[in-house]
Amino acid sequence: MSKLQGKIAIVTGGARGIGAGIAKCLTDDGATVAIIDLDEAGARAAAEMLSPRAIGIGADAADEKAMADAVNVVVTKLGGLDIMVNNAGGAGWDIESMGLGTPFTNVTQKGWDIQLQGNLRASFASCKAAIPHLQARGGGAIINIASIAGLMAMPAVPAYAAAKAGIISLTRSLALELGPNLIRVNAICPGFLWTRAWEFLAGVMKQGVPEYKDMALRDIFLDVVRRNTPLGREQTPADIGHLVTFLAGDGAANITGEEIKVDGGITLNVMR
Ligand SMILES: NC(=O)c1ccc[n+]([C@@H]2O[C@H](COP(=O)([O-])OP(=O)(O)OC[C@H]3O[C@@H](n4cnc5c(N)ncnc54)[C@H](O)[C@@H]3O)[C@@H](O)[C@H]2O)c1
Repeated sequence: MSKLQGKIAIVTGGARGIGAGIAKCLTDDGATVAIIDLDEAGARAAAEMLSPRAIGIGADAADEKAMADAVNVVVTKLGGLDIMVNNAGGAGWDIESMGLGTPFTNVTQKGWDIQLQGNLRASFASCKAAIPHLQARGGGAIINIASIAGLMAMPAVPAYAAAKAGIISLTRSLALELGPNLIRVNAICPGFLWTRAWEFLAGVMKQGVPEYKDMALRDIFLDVVRRNTPLGREQTPADIGHLVTFLAGDGAANITGEEIKVDGGITLNVMR
């Protein structure tokens, strides 16, 4: 029997990117998956690709009421909730919204708030919506997708990094509070994946770094990966998804309050 057979999972931000990879791994391991994404059409299309039982719902993960409603819909349609994956995040594709700023005094309050809302508040609202249903089930797993940015000094993206560090802190607080309910709460810190965020960052590097001026965005990203990753390759959505299925399953029954890196060793290095 597949290790997550009979389990019901939600993945926020699962319409594309890392979330879509997580949803696929959960489905492959037997779980029934609901995708909740700002992009409703994308969520439905991704669910259709997964399995006939998967569902896709449009909602803002950073909105407490919208998330409570969306999770209620999932529980009504699928019959409960065992696994909550809070992946939605990364919150804007311009310099201000990315909270990009060197020196720090260039970061605007608007950019700061966008990052805190799109990342940290999304985890808050999603955890809050899921917990009563996991308690009703007698236990379960919450997995928060943070980032290596939450573990390191990241002067280029201080707002994003602070939001991700906040997610790691929230993970620990909830793990302690919810342990007696047999709800395990863990965080995953991905490294570098070729998704929309990196397309944007590579564009910023192309303009700002002379040696990247004539390079394609994808090649700029691969150069950053090559310079910084001991294992020599970018991370993939499946790399993250495989850790999610482990943390969601019985093999991780005594693991809670952890933040686990999937970064090919990037954080062993001083960034170059
Ligand atoms: N790409 C990387 O290198 C990287 C590294 C570390 C951590 N992460 C984190 O992984 C997660 C997924 O990132 P990605 O690179 O796959 O991003 P992505 O932009 O490719 O996909 C994000 C998905 O989340 C959805 N989404 C965004 N905000 C939402 C919200 N408030 N409510 C509902 N849905 C929302 C988007 O519509 C999209 O479908 C994010 O939390 C990101 O911070 C990414």
